[in-house]
Amino acid sequence: MTNQTHAALDQLLKLAEQAAQNSYSPYSRFRVGAALRLTNGELVTGTNVENVSFGLTICAERVALVRAVSQFGPEIRIEAVAVANLNGLPSPPCGACRQVLAEFIEPDAPVVFPSAEGRRTMPFRELLPLGFEMKLK
Ligand code: THU
Repeated sequence: MTNQTHAALDQLLKLAEQAAQNSYSPYSRFRVGAALRLTNGELVTGTNVENVSFGLTICAERVALVRAVSQFGPEIRIEAVAVANLNGLPSPPCGACRQVLAEFIEPDAPVVFPSAEGRRTMPFRELLPLGFEMKLK
């Protein structure tokens, strides 16, 4: 990765951390933020929004994604993702978020997230090697 890419991912991580400040997480107290960089140059953030019914909770990554589509339309492409939390714990994107991101993300897009070994960056295709696809004949 180039230094420029590192700097761009650092910026995206900072945005994810800032977004986590707005987390609505009274049930888990796990404060997550996500930031997307789109191929159109736009940066979009999201935070987790929990619900007393638990199952209706929405993750930071999916909030960022639905905001991006709502603001910039269905043609958006994601070229980088950053995830952060304010709890100092590992938080790779959950499986549901990976499947939802798959629809809009470049396979080589770097995804940076907190892991047990510190910050980790992986290309999206390695995070979801066999996502569901539907190609009806
Ligand atoms: N959460 C996220 O926001 N992103 C993830 O990838 C995993 C989990 C949130 C959902 C819930 O509000 C809290 O973290 C605990 O699961």
